[in-house]
Amino acid sequence: MDASWLDIQLKLERIFYELSQCIEDFDVTFDPEIRTADSRFGDFQVNGVLSFAKKNRKNPRALGEKLLIKAREVEPLTDCALELSGPGFINIRFSSSLLQQWMNYFYNRCDFSQQLQGKTIVIDYSSPNTAKQMHVGHLRSIIIGESIQRILRFCGANVIRDNHIGDWGTQFGILIMAVKRAKVDVFALDMMAALDEFERLYREGVALTQQDERYLAAARQELLLLQHGDDENLKIWEAINRASYHAFEEIYRQMDVTFDHVLGESFYRDKVDSICHELKSLGIAEEDHGALLVFHRDHERFRAQPFLIRKSDGASNYATTDLATVRYRVEVFHADEMIYVTDGRQRDHFQQLFLTVERWFRAKNMPLPRLKHVWFGTVLGADGCAIRTRSGESIKLKQLIDEGIQRAWAIVVEKNPGLLADEQKEIARVIAIGAIKYADLSQNRTSDYVFSWDKMLSFEGNTAPYLLYAIARIHALLRKLDIRENFDEIRFSKIMAPFSTAEELALARELVNFPSVIQQVLDDLRPHYLCTYLFGLASKFSSFYNANRIFGEGREVFEKRLLLCRFVLYVLETGLHLLGIKTLEKM
Ligand code: ARG
Repeated sequence: MDASWLDIQLKLERIFYELSQCIEDFDVTFDPEIRTADSRFGDFQVNGVLSFAKKNRKNPRALGEKLLIKAREVEPLTDCALELSGPGFINIRFSSSLLQQWMNYFYNRCDFSQQLQGKTIVIDYSSPNTAKQMHVGHLRSIIIGESIQRILRFCGANVIRDNHIGDWGTQFGILIMAVKRAKVDVFALDMMAALDEFERLYREGVALTQQDERYLAAARQELLLLQHGDDENLKIWEAINRASYHAFEEIYRQMDVTFDHVLGESFYRDKVDSICHELKSLGIAEEDHGALLVFHRDHERFRAQPFLIRKSDGASNYATTDLATVRYRVEVFHADEMIYVTDGRQRDHFQQLFLTVERWFRAKNMPLPRLKHVWFGTVLGADGCAIRTRSGESIKLKQLIDEGIQRAWAIVVEKNPGLLADEQKEIARVIAIGAIKYADLSQNRTSDYVFSWDKMLSFEGNTAPYLLYAIARIHALLRKLDIRENFDEIRFSKIMAPFSTAEELALARELVNFPSVIQQVLDDLRPHYLCTYLFGLASKFSSFYNANRIFGEGREVFEKRLLLCRFVLYVLETGLHLLGIKTLEKM
């Protein structure tokens, strides 16, 4: 990734290091520390003069003066504003031409794909459990996972999206028992209604097992039969999964999400036994009353809280499946890295999984993949508790999305009654899904956040509608000009007017920041940095657009400002795409 602030930082460090070398001979070498400056004082600040002067017993201010004189002669810095402040800090304010050069350089080769080239990263997200509708708790994994996978791909990784569906859990014992007892013909159920029926039957089954021991025993028996490949139970299980997948697909379609693989837990059911044997023979897992446990004895908490990889009845579990999955992803997908996007409540599970994998792979002398748990907080209701319906149930994702579209539609119809009904519908859909996604992504993922329709659908503030509107506004401007030039060919040229107004300069500086923001998101896998940046950019654009006329100040000024608009459009559209949000040309 070239020409970002980070890059500039390194270049400046080099320059100042070399400058210090040509002033005098010192006992101690100069180690300049270049930082992004408080924007009131400059773009960058050079620190380190003070300590350098002290170590060499020189006057820092005088040393700073000398450096400054030299710096003014260095090519890239000749027309930048350089200023000494305090006991020897040097502030650098970039000139318009330097900003234009960097913008040209960067936007004409806007290519981040070097960053992660050659890396295979498996990302495990969404991953709901079957036999139930997805609810609001599943929202964040879909949204955050989708954005992260897009960013990784943008940066050149070979990304494999794997939806690790929970389709082999103990819930099936109860459910199959309830299905058989109620004599429901699962094959005759209507696809749309099937999942509701299964949820109802499951609740019925749970109530029965709580009332009467015999039902509990029957449920256990059905589970055993299923696990041993009983034909009838497998067929019922398949019908339940089919209905679940059908409902999931609809959500993914709405959310604009697709996967490369959907390998549910059941896919690993014949791969778990060998893992247990292996971990036992390697001395990593220990047997205890029939159960198989992994202790991490040098871990403060896990020394007394072992990782259970086989239950005392011999059944494998979530942990065993995850161990088998790691191996499969390494052997078959050749994964260098695996990213798991789940709720923060699974932190212990993943820490124990990662520690176990580390010991296991080390014992076998196999290269260890990088394992990352990208966890997130809870979606809260207005009362500050986990969001629920009035009757206390968790909100179905489908209902949530439908409500969002309905609300957005009312806004669109009010704001833009002249549009065709189909257009209004499509715009409402984009706004609603965008708003739901953006509200989630704009929060630090490890925090909880309060779900609020009014806030997320507002056209003011850090919201999707605000950004979508900024984009539509630039499109409207370009339409007015009827400009069809090829974006690739547009660049700032020598004859172009320099940025002169405060708004132009502020906007240009913000644009140059884009690559380092991407870097930041990549380092931490936290998309909210990108949201904060896009909001800042759109706000700066708005100030620019309100205070600077595009037309009427001559050709040169027109071209320069138009170019700024196009760069802003490019960054906003690219940024929203990386968040998984569709954009509109008209709103
Ligand atoms: N099905 C799990 C749940 O709903 C999430 C699975 C996450 N992925 C994994 N490999 N464990 O909580």
